[in-house]
Amino acid sequence: MKMRCATWDDKFKATLQLGRVLLKEKNVNSISETILHHIENTCDVTSSSIWLFDKYKNTLIFHSTNREDLTNSIFLNVKKCQDIILLHNDGYLLINIMSRDDESIGVIRIMTERKDIEGSREHDLLLLISSFASLILDNVLLTLHVGDIHKKMIEKLSMATRYRDIESNEHMLRVSLYSKVLATHSNMKRDDVRIIEIASQFHDAGKIGIPDHILNKNGKFTPEESSVMKNHPVIGYNILNDPEDKILQMSARISLEHHERWDGGGYPKGIKGNEISLEGRIVGLVDVFDALTSKRVYKEAWSLSCSKAYILENSGTIFDPELVQIFDLHFDEIEKIYFLNQENKSHVEQCPTSEESRTGRYQKV
Ligand code: C2E
Ligand code: SIN
Ligand code: SIN
Ligand code: SIN
Ligand code: FE
Ligand code: FE
Repeated sequence: MKMRCATWDDKFKATLQLGRVLLKEKNVNSISETILHHIENTCDVTSSSIWLFDKYKNTLIFHSTNREDLTNSIFLNVKKCQDIILLHNDGYLLINIMSRDDESIGVIRIMTERKDIEGSREHDLLLLISSFASLILDNVLLTLHVGDIHKKMIEKLSMATRYRDIESNEHMLRVSLYSKVLATHSNMKRDDVRIIEIASQFHDAGKIGIPDHILNKNGKFTPEESSVMKNHPVIGYNILNDPEDKILQMSARISLEHHERWDGGGYPKGIKGNEISLEGRIVGLVDVFDALTSKRVYKEAWSLSCSKAYILENSGTIFDPELVQIFDLHFDEIEKIYFLNQENKSHVEQCPTSEESRTGRYQKV
């Protein structure tokens, strides 16, 4: 299996090649494997393994070519080691992997029979390999860490909105699931369907910027209060927009457009039809459906059939007719999500009259 390079020259060339190969690897596993195989092919070793402290996550990652057992004690010894390379008393050679901040992020551990490594050319070769390993692993671990932070920040943003009673967890989940149903049956790209599932949950994040006495008012808005509330799409857009991130971009667009109407009568811009993004039209529809079927501080919950009827009646005025058709055609899927929610059990029996739907809708029924 091993194809050791015969000459020093070959070993050196192969190691330079390693740098290029590593640049194309994207995950810790494949990087570790490539490095270990390279070491076994170029140096006189009986086994090798890579041990990483993930300083960003405070955990240990262990990689080997399957010939070594995991023992935590070695970690503890190694952690204190400052040297780039060191001969351990039990016959292991330890090569430090350093971060750009000059901290040890792990070691390559080698088992070798040779006693004359120190001062040899192979020693230099190992130093070169450890430099490559350091550069590449530090980078990849940092990227992984940023990805994790990203997910966490999304959860934290949800938590912030929940603290202000903007919307419940369940509402967020339903809007996400309803959006997925409409998105799946529309002509939205598959990748975007996955993004809308996340992004739809932040449609009302801009309500963070609305004063409490308005946000949680127990009753109908005055025209002044209503116009303050109408800032929430733009506030959300400003909070969320990030030109470098697809999820945040879509979140921002949804926030901005979820109160636009198909006929142009919505806010903040009054754009109409396909001027509104598909994701904006989808969340615009499901948000109203969920608001109607839910109890709010200012209104009782409407029944499932009244809420459905309202969506169908407003096809082509408030809502995109094609999406209303999808909503109607796949109502069995919508219904399942609706019934996930126990709080929906009590609702007003009578459908609100059309007069009430248009004008008296925010009064308690
Ligand atoms: P929301 O409660 O999530 O409602 C979202 C949208 O669902 C509303 O957008 C409206 O288009 C629709 N909707 C909600 N309830 C009813 C209803 O009883 N009848 C009808 N026909 N449609 C309904 P809108 O109107 O732009 O309101 C945006 C947000 O402003 C609402 O989000 C809510 O948080 C708040 N809001 C609006 N009016 C009042 C009010 O009079 N009192 C209070 N406390 N909050 C209000
Ligand atoms: C991630 O980076 O994996 C989290 C999702 C996002 O890009 O917002
Ligand atoms: C909710 O979305 O669960 C409640 C929103 C409200 O306060 O009306
Ligand atoms: C949440 O309420 O927890 C998420 C964001 C929103 O829709 O307001
Ligand atoms: Fe909203
Ligand atoms: Fe909402």
